[in-house]
Amino acid sequence: MTLLTPPLPGGDTAIAPQSTGRTATPRHLLMCPPVHFDVVYAINPWMDVSVPVDTGLAVVQWQALKAAYEARGHTVDVVRPEPGLPDMVYAANGAVVVGGRALAARFTYPERQPEGVAYEAWLRTTGARHGIVSLGQAVERNEGEGDLLWDGEVLLAGTGFRTTREAHAEAAARLDVGVLTLELVDPRFYHLDTALAVLSTASGTRGTEGAAAAEIAYFPGAFTPASLAVLRERYPDAIEASEDDAAVLGLNAVSDGRHVFLTDRATGMHAALRERGFEPVGVDLSELLKGGGSVKCCTLELRPARTTEVAA
Ligand code: ARG
Repeated sequence: MTLLTPPLPGGDTAIAPQSTGRTATPRHLLMCPPVHFDVVYAINPWMDVSVPVDTGLAVVQWQALKAAYEARGHTVDVVRPEPGLPDMVYAANGAVVVGGRALAARFTYPERQPEGVAYEAWLRTTGARHGIVSLGQAVERNEGEGDLLWDGEVLLAGTGFRTTREAHAEAAARLDVGVLTLELVDPRFYHLDTALAVLSTASGTRGTEGAAAAEIAYFPGAFTPASLAVLRERYPDAIEASEDDAAVLGLNAVSDGRHVFLTDRATGMHAALRERGFEPVGVDLSELLKGGGSVKCCTLELRPARTTEVAA
């Protein structure tokens, strides 16, 4: 294939912005600065209370992620961090918002339970401004977008460690969407968003003209054989990530349809993404990795009511 873009003055070859054929859609994201981040309890295998955490460095790295989103046209809102809630930086766990309907989290471990209240309060007070039309309080145990990932058509729902199957049914009812339950087996990948990333969301109605299926990446070893069969059947063209990439939380990524924000350590994922025309944006979140989280964990996507989405 020939690149038709003329060389830039100075002799460099320009890469045409549309050369990947991928289009970014501006996103509305919610984040929480890690000013109180630390590892003082261990609720996943990544956490070791004897390993010191540099909170100042965590903040600097988090700011770089926020700036990377903003530089690519995304809107980032910030929820006020609360002292005594070191994991509140992992905003993805606070709720799940699809089509303007929000379901607040109900955390597994007592250490994190007050975070559900804090995120719910933020959604209650500011939600209407952001196209959120309903806010449900969960009865069942769910850890927000940590386990509930929207593929544009269905909610991919993880279980096995945190979010329960009953919560999948509750999320389906509250958000008025279909769910696909996926069972996790490896404690390192205790949330679905540590094992699977949605790279582009489905658009149009399946089987009709112009419809596009969602594209995902996942680490096969994180799932039961039955769930793996479900994934392979639904997403035959998915990127199957290596254990090395998964083990640096390379699947804990955020995509806008073109740019994929992920750890700079997941070199295999970077190459696979480039091959498919995505633009990987590498960030260093070494401190937040000590809590068992990376890019996606720090990011909750606010999806406004569908009418707004169609109009946009
Ligand atoms: N220390 C946190 C926990 O174990 C990390 C949460 C990471 N968040 C995520 N969306 N995977 O709950």
